[in-house]
Amino acid sequence: MAFKIGLLGLGTVGTGTAKILLDPQGRHPLLQELKLHRVGVNSLDKPREVQLPAGVLQTDLTEIVTDPDIEIVVELLGGLEPARSLILKAIEHRKHVVTANKAVISRYGNEIFQAANEAGVYVLLEAAVAGGIPAIAPLTQSLVVNRIQSITGIVNGTTNYILSRMQTEGAGFEGVLAQAQALGYAEADPTADVDGYDAADKIAILASLAYSGEIDLEAVHREGIRQINATDISYADRLGFAVKLLAIAKPDPTQDTYQRDRLQVRVHPTLVPKDHPLASVNGVNNAIVVEGDPLGQVVFSGPGAGAGATASAVTADILNIAATLKVEELEAQTLSQQFPDQQPRTKVDVPHPLLSCQHQHACQIVPMEDLVTRFYARVLSPDRPGVIGKVGTCFGKFGVSLESVVQIDRKGEIAEIVVITHDVREGDFRQALAELVETDPIDSIPSVLRVL
Ligand code: HSE
Repeated sequence: MAFKIGLLGLGTVGTGTAKILLDPQGRHPLLQELKLHRVGVNSLDKPREVQLPAGVLQTDLTEIVTDPDIEIVVELLGGLEPARSLILKAIEHRKHVVTANKAVISRYGNEIFQAANEAGVYVLLEAAVAGGIPAIAPLTQSLVVNRIQSITGIVNGTTNYILSRMQTEGAGFEGVLAQAQALGYAEADPTADVDGYDAADKIAILASLAYSGEIDLEAVHREGIRQINATDISYADRLGFAVKLLAIAKPDPTQDTYQRDRLQVRVHPTLVPKDHPLASVNGVNNAIVVEGDPLGQVVFSGPGAGAGATASAVTADILNIAATLKVEELEAQTLSQQFPDQQPRTKVDVPHPLLSCQHQHACQIVPMEDLVTRFYARVLSPDRPGVIGKVGTCFGKFGVSLESVVQIDRKGEIAEIVVITHDVREGDFRQALAELVETDPIDSIPSVLRVL
């Protein structure tokens, strides 16, 4: 038995995947039954890091997704098109699909999962979130009986690298970004990473699978890290926090009962207490903390990108599909041996319920003004008696209770007052800030960050 694979894309992850498929020795024995049948690329002339068997490489991608011999299509092209259309065409031709494409799945997951379920094929996407770290399989299989109370992750390596270096070196964002670009840790156009788009795609996918619902990506609150500066990182550090770009999904805690269709889904820089497992995840690493009932807390961490790590997740998905196909084939063989006189049974596709993705409802996303969280704010004011009192009075008027108020530094005549609040409704806090900034003698409020 050999399961024929059609691979689309031979970039970093495609090359890593081809390398594993072509070097099965010492890995799971089922890998030896996978055959890299065709590989689709844009150009045949480009030098390749992997030696492919003769005749495998081709440029007609449609031919691959419609090839009757191919059972599993592995989409590693990235980007929206032609990836989305090729995935749908592969499904139409009853191919199982493995993809690492977070942009396509976060936007078109519903359409793709529906098409796959109708065609009786699987779409697996472990590599789309946090590279080599198991995140999808835990949420859809290992932890599936839990009520997922929260998913909190560092799911973007580029921003974690930048923030970690800002923290250890006391450096500014622009300088560290330029160095990260020179070292290949950040793209020439860093928008997708530093403005939080990549993390938003990933948390939308995790939320949709953990809560079995469709997530409107446009409704996911997204803030990046461009506004983070060395001053706030230094204050946060002195107050016992690390600054991290967090992606968070959780059911609306203001509801009386646990509901999977009303969620907070958000990406923003956050002050993380230093004793939290995410505070010490540094550099390009990713980590995801899942809280479940009755499980409690589990932490998954490791390399969130890179050829080997991501290919490890891709190939495990391929193997999972091959394993279910093999069970089906063995079952059919056994039946025909036991009942040789009977007609071969008509194949009825009953998808493995923990491998197929299904949205059971549309999730409503809670507006940020209704979020209840702690805040950090840095307030600038001429250093005069009574200023801290005025800050406290203004916050008190809007029901904002303060956990700490400190004046650590002074720049000339201007004092820097740093406030950490207790839990407060975001809408109330924003109203207090709007009034505070107009209060004499307050000069400005240059930074406001949420606290985990
Ligand atoms: N650009 C992503 C990151 C890796 O920095 O984590 C791929 O998802």
